[in-house]
Amino acid sequence: YVIGIDIGTSAVKSVLVSVEGKVVCEHAESYPLHRPNPGWSEQNPEDWADRTIESLRRLMEKSKADPADVEGISFSGQMHGLVLVDAAGTALRPAILWNDTRTTPQCCKIEQMLGSKLLDIARNQALEGFTLPKILWVQEHEPDILSQASLFLLPKDYVRYRLTGDFAMDYSDAAGTLLLDVAGKEWSADIAQAFDLPLSLCPKLVESSGQTGTLLPAVAEAAGLLPSTKVFAGGADNACGAIGAGILSEGQTMCSIGTSGVVLSYESRKDVNPQGKMHFFNHGEENAFYVMGVTLAAGHSLSWFKDTFAKESTFESLLEGIEEVPAGSGGLLFTPYISGERTPHPDADIRGSFIGMDSGHTSKHFARAVLEGITFSLRESIDIIRESGKNITEVTAIGGGAQNETWLQMQADIFNANIVKLESEQGPAMGAAILAAYGCGWFPSLEACAKQFIRPFQTYAPDPDRVKQYDGLFSIYQDVYGQTRELNQ
Ligand code: XUL
Repeated sequence: YVIGIDIGTSAVKSVLVSVEGKVVCEHAESYPLHRPNPGWSEQNPEDWADRTIESLRRLMEKSKADPADVEGISFSGQMHGLVLVDAAGTALRPAILWNDTRTTPQCCKIEQMLGSKLLDIARNQALEGFTLPKILWVQEHEPDILSQASLFLLPKDYVRYRLTGDFAMDYSDAAGTLLLDVAGKEWSADIAQAFDLPLSLCPKLVESSGQTGTLLPAVAEAAGLLPSTKVFAGGADNACGAIGAGILSEGQTMCSIGTSGVVLSYESRKDVNPQGKMHFFNHGEENAFYVMGVTLAAGHSLSWFKDTFAKESTFESLLEGIEEVPAGSGGLLFTPYISGERTPHPDADIRGSFIGMDSGHTSKHFARAVLEGITFSLRESIDIIRESGKNITEVTAIGGGAQNETWLQMQADIFNANIVKLESEQGPAMGAAILAAYGCGWFPSLEACAKQFIRPFQTYAPDPDRVKQYDGLFSIYQDVYGQTRELNQ
């Protein structure tokens, strides 16, 4: 067996996977998120470590697997979160997470100081969620903490350190810090120096499938595993999501809809980032990359709608009957900017809208319009990737957005691409398990492993009439941002 562990924002999920790729057992343990000030989002790194060990213990207990049969473990983790540790490896303050928005002034400073160097080296724009702005916030507001720090880590790297005693960070996660020379695969001395940060703050870099040690004896005992269990570095949750969806060769694209939504496309070239509008990160596969666009409030728009207008409903009952509402929701259009947007508008202040309400509209029109608005936002990323010269004809759908038939067909019609749903999808935890299986030497490549572990279940083909209709609505959708951005400034 191998174990894949996904350190998420609300919970840690562990999966036990056999050599055939069968998920034998899974277990999740949740932890709190703290919002001590508006816009702040923090977690206690100890909670991650503690719950991870507990999730391993429960996984071994429930599955009754022989610990000697568990050959390797690897990780997927929420990206960008800042953990500062001292020389003894103790976390110096709560972790500042990817969805914390306190760092707008630091982002402006980074853009001003680095100018075009930022896109040349780090290949991404300065966004509130990324790690460097968080380090600069600590430098400005808590200088004593930064001066005590001997290293910065990302969430899964902290947990891996607690399990093995080794400090390391893999390229796919390091790419989300803004301190990595993404194409050169080394820390950027230029960027660190520009902000008076010692390079020694940056941990050793490793490949996602590289081994970083074995389990500490005390951890192994608490988790019901053997200390000889090999531990592999793992990767960013989006890279692992891509591996777990088989996005491992040129031309493959995935659409993941959870709280936020992601369109991600495999990239073997290191010299592209369509207009700097997309994120461009190292993949979990050696020497590969991906471009990615993010809709901040994807599933979040739907849960906001449910909690505000249909509190008693389940998601199933909320979406029941939306297939009977015609495409275009009878002229009702929604923009999902309820907590700001990232792609293609990196704008934390913009807010959403419902436009075109009619006295004949029912709650089903509204529910369908919410799904269409989320999908239009993701289509913006698909179009940017297409404009860079890629021919997207097929998209693998994962996450909550892959759970509803009408939404899957809607993605096919709005993206004008075949949508593939997977059999028993496990998300990033499966990507972590694949990294461990490859790291253990079970397969000659990640792709060979993914072919064994992941199977397509069903394909949804675009309907030419609806594609045309949605194309027309999409151009109206694209105009709304410019017309409404002043409302919340
Ligand atoms: C990616 C991002 C999120 C987190 C969520 O840039 O901020 O997808 O990785 O875990």
